[in-house]
Amino acid sequence: MSSAQTVPAVANGFTDLQPRHIAVHPLTGHIGAEIEAPDLSRPLAPEVVDEIRSALLKWKVVFFRNQPLSHAEHVALASVFGAPTIGHPVFGFVEGHPQVYSIARDRFTARHTGEPLIRPWTGWHTDVTAAVNPPAASILRGVVIPPYGGDTFWTNLAVAYAVLSPTLRSFVDTLRGIHAFSPPEGQSATDAFREKNRRRPLVSEHPLVRVIPETGERVLFVSPSFLKSITGLSPRESQQILELLFEHITRPEFTVRFRWREGSIAFWDNRATAHLAPRDIYALDFDRQLYRITLKGDVPVGVDGRPSTSIEGEPLDAFTAGTA
Ligand code: SIN
Repeated sequence: MSSAQTVPAVANGFTDLQPRHIAVHPLTGHIGAEIEAPDLSRPLAPEVVDEIRSALLKWKVVFFRNQPLSHAEHVALASVFGAPTIGHPVFGFVEGHPQVYSIARDRFTARHTGEPLIRPWTGWHTDVTAAVNPPAASILRGVVIPPYGGDTFWTNLAVAYAVLSPTLRSFVDTLRGIHAFSPPEGQSATDAFREKNRRRPLVSEHPLVRVIPETGERVLFVSPSFLKSITGLSPRESQQILELLFEHITRPEFTVRFRWREGSIAFWDNRATAHLAPRDIYALDFDRQLYRITLKGDVPVGVDGRPSTSIEGEPLDAFTAGTA
């Protein structure tokens, strides 16, 4: 029997704090839990914060219902769990709220027209992996939600790593890859910010397998939308191995699909997941508006202890007044 059949339902290697102040309802065997928590617009007790963190490490993405937050409350909540970055390093932020990025239905319309080839992994990504220190986590809140359609998917990259054959695991442990992002024209939420940033590509080299510091978990850190090539391989070798890995990480059993409602919040570990924004909304007339805050991340470190390196662009810093 291959190791694929023997991996535990959730990844191991971390302290499983038994929640006493929140209720955690797992949604699948491998990823995703809905959390019943106190009102997130109010200051949270340290025990609640610890329990949410623990659930996040275990389930990789956690969801809250009926938590309608203002932009300011969203920023306050995110700041409890880390340091918010600028809304988006290229596309900007919501006017007056520099840490908040608007996820509007038509923000990428231009990208979705005339796309030549859609593959199972098309659109899957981990946020901003072209930066040398991709966000540690993202917190997305739903404000205008279509009556149907518009669901988001996440996949667990720790389980995806764990179920590879030992031989392939040992091989990918040694690999590094180039993640790149070149800003398209005219898609910033904030004109002045766009003007300043639009010509700035971001390029970084990351290990294909990164180690999560708190748990020692190994994660298959491949982000289909941004990972362009594997260092040291020929273009054909690189493309075919990437396709194998991209297809692998999007296997349905590693994923969870979330049906949004107004006031829903999704909070994901951006080091250990990739996600897929919906495409079906482009076939529907309904509006969809969400807002995202990302938390500053560390520079990833591979199993050999080597950190990622920046090739172009600046690290993603915590937002401070004067950044934007
Ligand atoms: C994102 O990619 O962060 C947004 C996901 C979504 O629109 O559902």
